[in-house]
Amino acid sequence: MIDIHCHILPGLDDGALDTEASIAMARIAAKDGIHTIIATPHLTSATFSKKKLLEAVVQLNTTLQRHKVPLTVLFGAEVQAHIAVSVADYFCLAESSFLLVEFPPSYLPVDARELITALRNRSITPIIAHPERNIQIGREPWQLTTLLEVGAKIQITAESITGKMGITAKNCAEYLLQNGQVHYLATDSHAPGFREPILSKAVKLAARIIGEEQARQLVMATGILSPLAA
Ligand SMILES: [Fe+2]
Repeated sequence: MIDIHCHILPGLDDGALDTEASIAMARIAAKDGIHTIIATPHLTSATFSKKKLLEAVVQLNTTLQRHKVPLTVLFGAEVQAHIAVSVADYFCLAESSFLLVEFPPSYLPVDARELITALRNRSITPIIAHPERNIQIGREPWQLTTLLEVGAKIQITAESITGKMGITAKNCAEYLLQNGQVHYLATDSHAPGFREPILSKAVKLAARIIGEEQARQLVMATGILSPLAA
């Protein structure tokens, strides 16, 4: 399995506090069957350079090899919507053309559709990070349809499906799965004990709704690291 959204790099944001925490997260993930994590620290403005991020990825991979943890970390970022267009050319996931975009937690900006269109016009595919946890979308998940129409992809959080993020997020995640509107399942883990880097439980629950094969596809980084299905 591949986790496309995880705050595993140490000391860059509110994710892993230090290298020890990163190693612990990687061990939990590897034990769960995750072989690759795309590291996605929050990018809220010019918080860090791409060079710094790439160096942190190389350093963590070296550390994981030294500790014999069978997991690869790739470059990425979780980009706030208001800077998405300006950083899109530099911070796509694993140097693909897919950008992980985070909207404000409580509402959907009125220009969300224009933002998705602007990114698509630049041949970037925006992946909306955990919309089921957005207060407005949690209540009105159908609001995402207008964004899907113009080419957005959807990533939901594993712990939303397992119920740890609350009943509204769980209901919304299930609604989106039932409507075939989920493209990726990711942990959004921030620490060994804060949204654990575990995908298998959520895959099993998703399989009850969309079937085993479709559920497996949600953790294959389709389009990012493997070809898009025809
Ligand atoms: Fe995140």
